[in-house]
Amino acid sequence: MVNSRRKLVFKVYIRFYYAAIILLEICFCSQFSMPSSDQFSKDPGALPVATNGEPFPWRELRLPSMVIPIHYDLSVHPNLTSLDFVASEQIEVLVRDATQFIILHSKDLEITNATLHSEEDLRYRKPGKRLNVLSYPAHQQIALLVPEKLLADLRYYVAIDFQAKLADVFQGFYKSTYRTLGGETRTIAVTHFEPTEARTAFPCFDEPLFKANFSIKIRRESRHIALSNMPKVKTIELEGGLLEDHFETTVKMSTYLVAYIVCDFTSVSGTTSSGVKVSIYASPEKWSQTHYALEASLKLLDFYENYFDINYPLPKLDLIAIPDFEAGAMENWGLITYRETSLLFDPKTSSASDKLWVTRVIAHELAHQWFGNLVTMEWWNDIWLNEGFAKYMELISITATYPELQFDDYFLEVCFEVIKRDSLNSSHPISNQAETPTQIQEMFDMISYNKGACILNMLKDFLSEEKFQKGVIHYLNKFSYRNAKNDDLWSSLSNNCLEGDLTSAGFCYSDSKRTSSMLTFQGENVEVKEMMATWTLQKGIPLVVVEREGRLLRLRQERFLGGVFKEDPEWRALQERYLWHIPLTYSTSFSKAIYRHVLKSKTDTLGLPENTSWVKFNMNSNGYYIVHYEGHGWDQLIAQLNQNHTLLRPKDRISLLHDAFQLVSAGRLTIDKALDLTRYLQHETNSLALLKGLGYLESFYRMMDRRNISDVTENLKHYLLQYFKPVIDRQSWSDEGSVGDRMLRSDLLRLACDLNHAPCIQKAAELFSQQMESNGKLNIPTDVLKIVYSVGAQTTGGWNHLLKKYELSVSGAERNKILYALTTSKDQEKLMKLIKLGMEGKTIKTQDLAVLLHTIARNPTGQKLAWNFVRENWAHLLKKFDLGSFAVRMILSGTTSHFSSKDELEEVKLFFESLKAQGSHLDVFQIILETISKNIKWLERNLPTLRTWLLVRT
Ligand code: BES
Ligand code: ZN
Repeated sequence: MVNSRRKLVFKVYIRFYYAAIILLEICFCSQFSMPSSDQFSKDPGALPVATNGEPFPWRELRLPSMVIPIHYDLSVHPNLTSLDFVASEQIEVLVRDATQFIILHSKDLEITNATLHSEEDLRYRKPGKRLNVLSYPAHQQIALLVPEKLLADLRYYVAIDFQAKLADVFQGFYKSTYRTLGGETRTIAVTHFEPTEARTAFPCFDEPLFKANFSIKIRRESRHIALSNMPKVKTIELEGGLLEDHFETTVKMSTYLVAYIVCDFTSVSGTTSSGVKVSIYASPEKWSQTHYALEASLKLLDFYENYFDINYPLPKLDLIAIPDFEAGAMENWGLITYRETSLLFDPKTSSASDKLWVTRVIAHELAHQWFGNLVTMEWWNDIWLNEGFAKYMELISITATYPELQFDDYFLEVCFEVIKRDSLNSSHPISNQAETPTQIQEMFDMISYNKGACILNMLKDFLSEEKFQKGVIHYLNKFSYRNAKNDDLWSSLSNNCLEGDLTSAGFCYSDSKRTSSMLTFQGENVEVKEMMATWTLQKGIPLVVVEREGRLLRLRQERFLGGVFKEDPEWRALQERYLWHIPLTYSTSFSKAIYRHVLKSKTDTLGLPENTSWVKFNMNSNGYYIVHYEGHGWDQLIAQLNQNHTLLRPKDRISLLHDAFQLVSAGRLTIDKALDLTRYLQHETNSLALLKGLGYLESFYRMMDRRNISDVTENLKHYLLQYFKPVIDRQSWSDEGSVGDRMLRSDLLRLACDLNHAPCIQKAAELFSQQMESNGKLNIPTDVLKIVYSVGAQTTGGWNHLLKKYELSVSGAERNKILYALTTSKDQEKLMKLIKLGMEGKTIKTQDLAVLLHTIARNPTGQKLAWNFVRENWAHLLKKFDLGSFAVRMILSGTTSHFSSKDELEEVKLFFESLKAQGSHLDVFQIILETISKNIKWLERNLPTLRTWLLVRT
């Protein structure tokens, strides 16, 4: 993949090679022309060629470090009528090595003027020197050629005037629109720069390592307000009635965190205990949905200031709901942008799971204000230091501030989700090479986020809560306003500085105590760095195989492979050179004690302290590994669950369910054994354990239904309804109970109605018609709203009614539920209409297109429709989203990864080949192909057994 991209760049070089040689001869004579020979000792002919035909003096994708930015003075004037902006900047730079050019990032900007001042020029008010600007779009770079060499250790001031259109996509400085209740369409302008799009808004050193201070000025009309990272210092009135807001200078930060917005939004505000002003902004009619976000962000900001023992450094923090937003949210320092559904909470239509989502996104982005903003990864290869940490801090902060949301239990899913991905051969290490903007975007994936969070959780369990927190504080203090890499984190976390030796800044008084990163653990010396390297530099997840002989446990570690069986010829080669340092935990039937052991070799043995009927590993599911119990191990655990499941804690029961079905995919456990394990669920009262077991059965049902394997589909349906009837019938159609109860209710009733369970359909249809008759005045309990709408959407009248309701609703939470309901229709024409509306981007916004295609593809009636649409309209889709974006990756995997036949695999393969031939390549291609192959194998291996198992039980 990397190769094909490189080939492309190479071709560009070749094409310009000859032209470059000719031009070089001309340029060598000119005083503006070439960099000094020491900077280009290599073959000068290999230089790229700028758009004007001149040689471009820099050949790398990464910027040189001869010149570094210190301070940006940026003035921007967006025109929300003509949809463009004019801007100017002055960048103060420090020259580290003498040079004759400055390389900056700039993409799709029209540069109208560039000048250079030395410090002396400024002091004596001398005019600046005009700079020759070369542009090399393939690398999104410009070169400013200076007439005289810039001298080392001196500061210079680069002034640039530029302009561009407001972007029509979701990156850079882009336009977003919303409709008022009165039907008026209003436009706002907003930035989204991460990872590499600041360069489309202003020429800059657009790499995370180049931190600088920013002073921002925004021009606007009086009907608008302007927001940026910092508070406004003053507003100046300009000729013609325009206003110019000046914002305080930022702290030192990376370009991707800069933000500014011009809009007409209103806000609610509050103040944290330490005096930070927090405001929630939304379009005027959504003001009433901002209150929960304010409460949550105040609580969470207070929590983080205490946990990190470092105050949030800015005087204010704004959180703003943007009507058009591709991702979920973005952590711009002091001005966090959100998709509306990630920030707004409407008590009438937002469910328990919506509340959990909003809380999670707020917790995530606030965590970034430290992890990411204060301390930033050196380069995008370590983006997990930002994202994995922020994801992990969701768990720590929500458990502390909103225990009633029971997020601790839900965190298990974060790890289960990524295990599926990480057990494919197409996975990658957490720290992974990334150079081009597309590769960098692709780093924002489940491995960086979820696996990052899960291995941090495992490390915390290993180190203890206290040591982990201390290490985190140390890391944040040490690297504040700077950049860090993996090793820096491990050094901080393995710092066994004693409490009394810690300075307030988190450093040790005695350096000698900090030299070793060794930890003593049960008599062993365990090096954290060494251990964590096995989790971050190596892809995949280990399988721990446990075999018991009386009181002796034989342990073995392997690489766990989702779709490759041990008897497959490739299995052995895929195992080679994989070894983890696994911090094991285990417990026995004898006592509640948790034992620990670090497995560092391929095999090991352990002695059990007592006689026991069963052994369970990975207590509370804190470890990132799967466990297989050979011999009678599984039978003993199944017997215990059936006899008295409460002897095992809920998370242990959930992890047993999870591991068993993973082992089925890997061909290590027969499906009937895993299904036997689910039989105890009849007595299960824990919502998540129930949901987990039910989830597997439902996923088999969906697979059978999509493949039209009607006998098994029917039997599964029958089994599910018969077996879970007591718990389904216990559900009320209300919003009562704990968050766990409420989420279980939503899922159970949704499944019951999907399976055509008559009482469910009846009740939902009744509520739907009551609401229609009441002219929308009747409020339906939020947790069942989606189900009621889905049942309502099955008639043409209901579907049309819902589509109208969708257009009029000001609640994003409700709109999402309606849209989901609309996609469950069994009428292909209706589904096609939705896709058309999504492509048009008016009624259904482009931001929702990826989810729309994904949910249509989940519907057996829509699966082919969505897939064919994507194939046939690929070029059109790429005009809306970047190749490496979340959206494109979701569209591809959402419309294909459930396929489970050889024909479908071939179709997808062909399509990906054609994309590759056009020069597009994504990691997700291989992930999808492997996933489909895995599904095919799963069916081949398990269908006969599943069929027989069901026959006996239905
Ligand atoms: N930093 C990301 C936003 C982002 C994502 C920027 C991808 C560039 C590319 C932000 O912190 C984030 O992770 N957002 C998540 C939501 C979060 C709750 C996991 C998102 O947008 O999905
Ligand atoms: Zn994030």
